[in-house]
Parts: sequence; structure tokens; C-alpha cells
Amino acid sequence: MHSGMKRLHPLVLFLFLCQALPAFLQDSCAAAPQANYDESKTGEYTLPDPLKFSDGSLVKKRKDWVRRRAEILDLFRCEVFGRAPAGLPKPTFEVTESDSRALDGKATRKQVTIWLLATNGGPKLDLLLYIPNGLKRPAPAFIGLNFGGNHTVTKDPAVHVTKSYVRSQFGKNGVANEESRGLQTSRWPIEKIIDRGYALATAYYGDIEPDYDGGWTNGIRGAVASQGAATAFSPDAWGAISAWAWGLSRAVDYLQTDPQIDPRRVAVVGHSRLGKTALWAGAQDERFGVVISNNSGEGGAALARRLYGETTQRINTSFPHWFCGNYKKYNANEAALPVDAHMLIALSAPRRVYVASAEEDRWADPKGEFLAAKHAGPVYRLFGLRGLPSEEMPPVNKSVGKAVGYHIRTGGHDIRDFDWDQYLDFADRNLPARKS
Ligand code: GCU
Repeated sequence: MHSGMKRLHPLVLFLFLCQALPAFLQDSCAAAPQANYDESKTGEYTLPDPLKFSDGSLVKKRKDWVRRRAEILDLFRCEVFGRAPAGLPKPTFEVTESDSRALDGKATRKQVTIWLLATNGGPKLDLLLYIPNGLKRPAPAFIGLNFGGNHTVTKDPAVHVTKSYVRSQFGKNGVANEESRGLQTSRWPIEKIIDRGYALATAYYGDIEPDYDGGWTNGIRGAVASQGAATAFSPDAWGAISAWAWGLSRAVDYLQTDPQIDPRRVAVVGHSRLGKTALWAGAQDERFGVVISNNSGEGGAALARRLYGETTQRINTSFPHWFCGNYKKYNANEAALPVDAHMLIALSAPRRVYVASAEEDRWADPKGEFLAAKHAGPVYRLFGLRGLPSEEMPPVNKSVGKAVGYHIRTGGHDIRDFDWDQYLDFADRNLPARKS
């Protein structure tokens, strides 16, 4: 064979490659599966049972759930999102700005720097708060990460423009400027939230870690690794979603110190990749009383086993930094996953979870999101609560469910007023004011 190759004239070899390469490239493109949108091709699957321990024994009582929850959490940490390191220093807080006359006097605005690793000058998260004025008791709050910087959620000129790296839609060469102020206001109806008696706390996810493959070196994972507290590359080390979720928990650390906020009445909300983040934050941190996933899709509320829209392989390929190294084992191998999205939702039980889809957001697999919410039901039943009421998806723009909520809205991948109206109603029902 070797001697045969030697006899090949370079010109012949060149002509051979010219012919063979395009075919090879075409083949490899054909091997990258196109997204499936055909219900008859979603595949057969069996979901792992959230109420069955890995050793086959069954969860029969609520107290068994404590152990099973710990087991499932560990599986998600090891196989899906990666573990945030334990034992990091507690963050410190600095209120850098406060004004009780925001929103024409309706709200108090605060801007707080959270020094994530306690050290002033180290990695930081800038939290923006609007808190309703004139309440008799501390306010319940919604908290969520935003995509473009705090200055993009409002036109309020007092909100600092982020100095963190931003993606091209929010700035030039990674740097944000005044042009992006207010770009995301439609996703953050602050006045509506304030009028309903809730505070809003939001922070830019890019403060925690910039969202690109390799961004970890410029974010919290890099800072922690350089202190020797975690190996960024072990297969179960935290991915970016875990880092963002960890940041949300640090923001709640601040909320617990703010006398104007009731830290026992906090709902975490997130859209899309930040919906995956909200679900993972809520799963781990029991201080979130309500957990809201808006169009979170693959790796969030959508069942991985249903092959519809985005798949495990596709997400791990496009966004290799979001999940941990071990998660790559499940590329085109979802049946081997010891967990699925219904268990991610159930990890928050008996706390309340709301899952929202959008009709045109097929990439996120609305039916897969509905089914995951539905199949979290048995865990809620253990607590005497009812999961989603029906086997069938509800009609568009109709909210269903009490302890677990769901709707599918008309329109595309977005978070809109209709979604917020449902979240506010859900929070009213599930974060009641307590006499204390
Ligand atoms: C991409 C990605 C999704 C993600 C979405 C977003 O579409 O494939 O998984 O949810 O981005 O975050 O907007």
C-alpha cells in the first residue's frame, strides 16, 4: 500500500483530491442532522422515573424525596451542567446608587455592586433594582438575568451602561454604549411589575461570564480557577450555565440583606438560555419560591429525548461552553441520559414552577416543554399538589395549572407582556404575603 502510494504522480493525487474532497465535505454535512419538525419522527423513548432511586427502590414518602432530590441534583451536576465549586468566599455588596424618585416616584431604584468573590476589585455583578414605594411590608421580587446589560432593560438614563463585554447587537467591538440603552424594554415591563407590587432585580449575565466558547477565562470560572479552587476542565466542572446560575444565587444573597425586599418571596425568571439558567438556579437554590422558564427549550424545559427542534448534539456543538464536558457523551445518545427535563423541573418541587412556550418557537420544542412540565407531576403529587391538569396541551394563550403552570403563547421566541401577565398572576397565587 505504502509503495503503491509512492508511485502516485502528484498531479494524479491532486486530481483525485479535487474530485473526492467535495463529496467528502458533502457527506460530512449530510451527517450533521437537520432539525426535525415532524411529530412522527420524534422517536420512541422512555423517561427515567423521578420517583425511582438509582438502585431501583421507590420514593414512597416526602422524606424519601429529600434523598432522591439529592441524587437527581448530583446527576445534573455531574452529567449535564457541571458543579459550581463549594466553599467560595461569601460575596460583599456595595450600593453605588439609590433614588427613591424613580418611575415618577413610584419606585426606588438601586444599583448594587456584588463583589462575587468578596474582594473589591475582583469579579463583580451589577444588580439593578426597582422596588415599589409605599408598601407596608418588604416587597416580593422577580429576579432574572438580562442579555445586554442593565441599561438595555430601561430607558432610565441613571442606569449605568455595562462595562462588561457585550455581543454585537448591544455594542461595538464588544463595548456597550448609549445606543443600546432601552433596547430590551419590551422584555422587562418594569412599570407593570411595580404596579403589581413586586420589585424587579436584574443583572447582566455577561458580568458573570461572557457568552462565547473560551469566555470562561474572562469570567468567574477563570477567576475561581486561578485561585486554585476548581479545575475548569474536569468533565463535571461547571459550564457557563452553572456559572450564570451561581451568579443568580449571589444576587439572592444580596436580596437577603435588603430590608425593602422579602427574600422569602422571590421568583426567578429567565428567557431562552437564561431560562435554562433560571431552571438550574431554581433547582439548586431553595430560596427561589417560584421558578419561571420562558421558552428555555433544549437543555432547559424541553425533553432531550424527544427529537424535535434543537438536539443535545446540536446544542453541544453550537454552544460547547454551556454544559459540562460529560454532557457531550449524550450527543445523539439521549436514551443514555440518567435524567431529563421533567426531573430538572421536579427538582424545584414543592416550590412552584411555570413553563412557557411560544407557538412559532419550534426550535425550543413547545410540546417537549409541555410534556416535561406534565411529567414533573408525580413529584408534586407526593406533596399533595396537582401538576398540570391535562394530558393535552392547552389552546394557545391559555394559562393552565396551579403548582406547575404552563402556557403556549402565539408568536415567536421572546418574552412579552402576555407572558409577564401570567407570571405575575402565578406569583400572586404562589408567593402570598405572610404575616410576620
Ligand atoms: C439558540 C440556542 C437555544 C437558546 C437560544 C437563546 O437558539 O440554540 O438553545 O435557548 O439560542 O438563548 O436565545
